[in-house]
Amino acid sequence: MGIKDGKIKVLVIGSGAREHTIAWKLRNSPRVGAVFVAPGNAGTRSFATNVPVSAGDIPNLLRASLHYGIDLTVVGSEIPLAGGIVDKFQQAKQPIFGPTRSAARIESSKSFARELMQRANVPSPDFKIFKSYQEGYQFLSNHQNPVVVKADGLASGKGAFVCQDQEAAINALYDCMEDRIFGGAGSTVVVEEQLSGREISVFAFSDGEHVSSLTAACDYKRLLDGNRGPNTGGMGSFTPADVWSDELSTLVRTEMIEPIINALAESGSPYKGVLYAGIMLTEDGPKVLEFNCRFGDPETQVLLPTLNTDLVDIMFAVISGHLHEFDVDWGESASVGVVMASRGYPGEFRRGLLIHGLDTLDEDSLVFHAG
Ligand code: AMP
Ligand code: GLY
Repeated sequence: MGIKDGKIKVLVIGSGAREHTIAWKLRNSPRVGAVFVAPGNAGTRSFATNVPVSAGDIPNLLRASLHYGIDLTVVGSEIPLAGGIVDKFQQAKQPIFGPTRSAARIESSKSFARELMQRANVPSPDFKIFKSYQEGYQFLSNHQNPVVVKADGLASGKGAFVCQDQEAAINALYDCMEDRIFGGAGSTVVVEEQLSGREISVFAFSDGEHVSSLTAACDYKRLLDGNRGPNTGGMGSFTPADVWSDELSTLVRTEMIEPIINALAESGSPYKGVLYAGIMLTEDGPKVLEFNCRFGDPETQVLLPTLNTDLVDIMFAVISGHLHEFDVDWGESASVGVVMASRGYPGEFRRGLLIHGLDTLDEDSLVFHAG
């Protein structure tokens, strides 16, 4: 796997700050000769070739990969993964980093994920799966405890309703199943016990069988300081997570990540890629809120700068099933990311404003462009 002599060409798929960071990290690998990003953004243009193909256009992404002679393709977002981009590239013998469509169900179907976690004994909230509004309504009408109502499919991060009371839960169920605000993604709904506690995002690579060392970051989605204001796509992140320890890492590895990797392998869908566990530290111990089949945004922006192991080596080891030969060193240094947005975000905001001062940054500051 990979090119023994000479430098390789890599293609990163996406246009966010996460993908800018992945492309930047790959650019700094001694093994990489050229970086392409599809579609990329103004930030990636400064060191990579932006290819004008959208991240959802799998046939044209494959064409671009063949056209440019790409040696390694890396997918940023869950949408092309859930759409089967890895399966398509594999059929065409184009090396690609990420899970197949079937393994990506760990993120693209919340009911699949919850049932798998249950089978694998992964600590999780209680849950029920509903395929009709009537059944869900019956349950919620007789249920007083706080719940989270989740659309089964992908909903751009908006599919989970943390409900204040019974009325809010029934409204969320109605929005998903009757109003179909997320289309087909809401035709099945998962209703979960509402947990409380600190949240962390944990990441590990897997080649389908082996699991790398883990790392953790905290991310903040509320607009304002002090974790107030409306939800956004993410306003900042830091690593290491203050609550992260060797003991917690061992627990997450042995009770959450490894059981899920094993369960996916046993079900015939081995998971290759980076696995992201959203975990809540409750009074009854850590529990999994969700698994994602990709790097986090904005966690990637703080995690990859501190990663000491060559990302290209890791990715080829994941693809070829040799991850056990690698010691993935996430580094010891701390890193903080702050998102700057145009005034008004996440509501209406002005676009096209000039950003000043990018040429006067400290040596230990990095800037990643989003969108
Ligand atoms: P998800 O769509 O599963 O990624 O959930 C999005 C967010 O909803 C999480 O980051 C949590 O803040 C919250 N959340 C999800 N599930 C639960 C739960 N069972 N209890 C409390 N909060 C939750
Ligand atoms: N940081 C949240 C996510 O990437 O889904």
